[in-house]
Amino acid sequence: MAEPKENVQMEKIVSLCKRRGFVFQSSEIYGGLNGFWDYGPLGAELKRNVKELWWHAMTRQRDDVAGLEATIIMSPQIWKASGHVDTFADLMRECPLTKKRVRADQVEPQSGIAFNYLGAIESFPNEPINIGSTVHAETNVIAKALEKYIAKESPSSLKDLSQSLKKFGQLNVDEELKNLFQGITGEQFDQAIQKAVKDAVPFLNAEKFTVLLPHGKPPESAQKTAIQFYQSSGLKNPILLGERSEKIENSTDFHPESGVKLNEPRPFNLMFKTHYGPIESEENIAYLRPETAQAIFAQFKNVLETSRQRVPFGIAQVGKAFRNEVTPRNFTFRSREFEQMELEFFIKPDEVIEAIHGSVFRPTPNSQLQSPEPNWGWQAWHQYWVEERVRFYEDIGLSRETLGFHHQTPAELAHYARACTDILFKFPFSKKDEHGNVVGDELEGIAARSDFDLSQHQRFSGKPMGVFDDELRAAWAKLPKEKSDELWKRYYDHRKNYLMKSSKPDETAEQISKQATDDANGLAKGQYIPHVIEPSAGVDRLILALIANAYSEITGTDDKGKSETRVTMKFHPRVAPIKVGVFPLLKNKPELVKKAQDVRDLLRPWMNVFYDETGSIGKRYARQDEAGTPFCVTIDFDTLGEKPELLDTVTIRYRDDGKQERLKISELLQFLLSKTR
Ligand code: GAP
Repeated sequence: MAEPKENVQMEKIVSLCKRRGFVFQSSEIYGGLNGFWDYGPLGAELKRNVKELWWHAMTRQRDDVAGLEATIIMSPQIWKASGHVDTFADLMRECPLTKKRVRADQVEPQSGIAFNYLGAIESFPNEPINIGSTVHAETNVIAKALEKYIAKESPSSLKDLSQSLKKFGQLNVDEELKNLFQGITGEQFDQAIQKAVKDAVPFLNAEKFTVLLPHGKPPESAQKTAIQFYQSSGLKNPILLGERSEKIENSTDFHPESGVKLNEPRPFNLMFKTHYGPIESEENIAYLRPETAQAIFAQFKNVLETSRQRVPFGIAQVGKAFRNEVTPRNFTFRSREFEQMELEFFIKPDEVIEAIHGSVFRPTPNSQLQSPEPNWGWQAWHQYWVEERVRFYEDIGLSRETLGFHHQTPAELAHYARACTDILFKFPFSKKDEHGNVVGDELEGIAARSDFDLSQHQRFSGKPMGVFDDELRAAWAKLPKEKSDELWKRYYDHRKNYLMKSSKPDETAEQISKQATDDANGLAKGQYIPHVIEPSAGVDRLILALIANAYSEITGTDDKGKSETRVTMKFHPRVAPIKVGVFPLLKNKPELVKKAQDVRDLLRPWMNVFYDETGSIGKRYARQDEAGTPFCVTIDFDTLGEKPELLDTVTIRYRDDGKQERLKISELLQFLLSKTR
């Protein structure tokens, strides 16, 4: 879908990404593949930095998170259990002409003149159809007859048409039409036309077709499109039947590119299907994972046992995910292949916290939740993770003003989720609200998913996914009966509710009640299935947000006094693809070149350095500004000791304000590390 015209900023970003090697269209030399993107040299570095920063913040910097790297293709049972096979679908609508699909909720409203056709009939000018003992009619004559008939009866299919054709003779067809069948009158006419139409049925396509033309476009263009449609459905030389036009305002029923009226919405599963092994059969269907999360649930027990973690703790994973999105759009924002950074943070159910600590801490929106406490229930953990994630974004240069929040309403929440807060970024394509404020689009969702996922895998795999907590068992034994009964009942109700919503068709109400009773009795013995808080972020969306956030233009005059607009990518030094540019002042002075290469080699083991000796220093700065390099270091004659007091010092130049100062080479590495880590 074309970007809206006002999105000049987005066009500039897309063009810079290609020109400077951040993002290229996948398979570009073959015309590209919609929804797939490659990262060029700068993009690859940027992406690597982002993933490493996330991994660092979420696992290595914490005691309570362990990492995982699972396969993309897993047992299809995983996707049965997670619900993806049955429900991971978007409602989509298809253009009957081009077969292109759009998400039903994302069709841009359009206005114009709609041309409706009731069907088409094959034209065989040299093969008249016999319509009686003496008279033959060409199909265009019969087309006219049919047109009248279809207009009056509106059959919805070819089958309907042929069945109801028996009535045709009784229709009050007009004089003009009768004249086409010269020489036949009265009853003879009725019989003749009935036969003619019946004979014509094999040459007929009674599918309705509508195309919208923008105001001012000639109707011939609609006819051309309609003819293409009927040709694509089998007719060689279609004669269009029953053209009718009407004015349309702001309708979402038409494909934005072809203008053709869309088919009715149908669910469309977003998972990419493939087969494993040498035989392509139903038994060896596999799916490319649509999220990284499910591998974490499936490996929950293995990680728990090998990492010596105890609930509350999390498992983090970064990796590819695939969704056959109906309408990939907004550059990399909605792609078909993308990467996710997901944490599944397992927590104790509130009943367990209450049994152990007497009560559950309930945060207010203003609670400062920076260091976790044992009495936190799901609400505090949820709020904590939203804050943690915002702090992460701030740390890599996305200020709070660039972000927004969407708290999903009960109607939007998945049936098993208790809350979900989306962190939004205000992209150049983001829409404005009724007050004119940019709302933002989803960068990350932080969901409180209850114990749904582990419970599903327990039920589908038959393997226990619960944990044993001796603190709970000891605390439970000391609870007053009233309290333990209350907690037991709450846990029972929660489990029963889950089981009822997720039960298999052959499970009875008694079986469900018995299972919920067993689960609640298990709680009293120290056993439960952990609940989960899931901060789930998209790498590619974050890259796009960082690029959009960094993009800034300065218009000035060049050396020759001509106005020029220069782009500076103001990345935070932590994410910047290149941390420092190293330049010898002149490339034809071997002493300068040697010294500059020594500086490059000093820094290189620690960070991504770009060595450049071509063009003027000004040009070299400009190239690095466009790449988003926060620091440039120049080795000049003073470095070599022309002014003895400046021996072994370099000029460091700051990207964002262009300021320069001198720094000792011996202090350079430490200085740069302190700024870029
Ligand atoms: N496990 C939960 C989950 O996958 P999601 O909201 O469907 O939740 C999480 O996806 C994040 O993954 C989104 O916030 C977004 O950043 C990213 N994401 C999802 N679909 C994407 C797509 N088609 N292209 C790029 N990123 C996508």
